[in-house]
Amino acid sequence: MKKVFKIILSLIIIFFGAIYILVNTVLKENYNISDIKNNLTKETINKKSQELLLVNDQNGLGKDYIPEGLTIPNIKFSSNSANEEKHVAGIMAKPLEKLVKAAKDEGVTLLGNSAYRSYKSQEKVYNNRVKSQGRKLADSYVAKPGFSEHQTGLCIDITNKDKYFVEGTKEADWLAKNCYKFGFIIRYPKGKKTSTGIDYEPWHIRYVGKEAAKYIYDNKITLEDYLNK
Ligand code: DAL
Ligand code: ZN
Repeated sequence: MKKVFKIILSLIIIFFGAIYILVNTVLKENYNISDIKNNLTKETINKKSQELLLVNDQNGLGKDYIPEGLTIPNIKFSSNSANEEKHVAGIMAKPLEKLVKAAKDEGVTLLGNSAYRSYKSQEKVYNNRVKSQGRKLADSYVAKPGFSEHQTGLCIDITNKDKYFVEGTKEADWLAKNCYKFGFIIRYPKGKKTSTGIDYEPWHIRYVGKEAAKYIYDNKITLEDYLNK
């Protein structure tokens, strides 16, 4: 009888022991894995929504919108650049540094000119351009405050030593051909004003992430086309 009791007791201990192990290892592990997966998904979604943020004459930002993680990238800037416009959104700092370094390694010197501009700064830029060139010309090249991609911190105007960054220069041609490899696009391509609302700007690059940049480059489309808006 004693022996039978011992066996039953052992079986009960083994049974509950197995349940304990199952709950504390397998299920807990699964919970952690799915938790990690959820976190990754959230991060990915957050990153993607930042990378693909669309700002144009139809899609504006609030006056107080400030990009996440504003920072000054480790690149050279033009002597004209103000401190504010040396800043970029956190997610594009490293890709920009890599792009500028790759250009340098191929003998092409790219300088930062103007990246982040607050609503107020864009207001100044826009009003000055209207004064100097008239509203019609200003509207072809400068976005109204609240409707400038510069407020996202996800773009930067590049220049060269001569401050003459036009199609056909070594620097502009290198940028057009290579920027997608680092996740950037020429945001206002030639002949795409009906799509972007802005005339050709070979100097203005926008960070969209490598996947979107390659697709946009390969298919010769705009960010608007890519987002199907
Ligand atoms: N030059 C671009 C369009 C801007 O002002 O945002
Ligand atoms: Zn620009």
